[in-house]
Amino acid sequence: MRKLTYMTVAVLILAVGSLASDPAAADGMATIDKRKAFMKTDILKPFLVIKKFVKDGAGTASDVAASARKINAVAGQIPALFPKGTSRGEFDEKVTRALPKIWEDWKGFETATAALVTESAALAKIADGGDSAAIGAQFGKMGKLGCGGCHKPFRGAKVK
Ligand code: HEC
Repeated sequence: MRKLTYMTVAVLILAVGSLASDPAAADGMATIDKRKAFMKTDILKPFLVIKKFVKDGAGTASDVAASARKINAVAGQIPALFPKGTSRGEFDEKVTRALPKIWEDWKGFETATAALVTESAALAKIADGGDSAAIGAQFGKMGKLGCGGCHKPFRGAKVK
């Protein structure tokens, strides 16, 4: 009986140890952390600078142009941050909101990426012109097609 208990503990320790050191799981985790940080720092941050201009009149049109160019410069990196094996399902839904549909419709995911590239470039150009109303309209379009066009089909609901 006692021997069995020791065995059980040993097996458990081994099992937990191998889970923790599973290189694929650790890599996937690191990738998920990296892309979430990317979305927040490289995409959301400049997005909020533009939003503040549009909603509150904060900053200048050239701040908008610079922020749109920041988004434009990095948007093309999105697909590379979604390697296979990092979906919701493969990881806990609290860990990632990336739906398996991303990999089932990879072309669609690339098209959604391209929309953000296109709309952020258009926003930068319009912001160079300095027309606040036109900036507001294009910001709306970028949000809808560029962000929403991907989040809607490819990102699952938040789970706490
Ligand atoms: C081509 C697809 C795609 C585009 C374009 C895109 N996103 Fe995302 N975004 C995602 C996916 C998928 C997730 C979920 C990632 C995860 O949970 O692993 C996400 C997550 C996020 C997050 C949450 C990050 C976190 O901490 O969990 C923010 C914020 C975000 N996106 C902002 C934006 C904004 C703003 C835009 C537009 C300017 C945008 N995204 C464009 C696919 C996209």
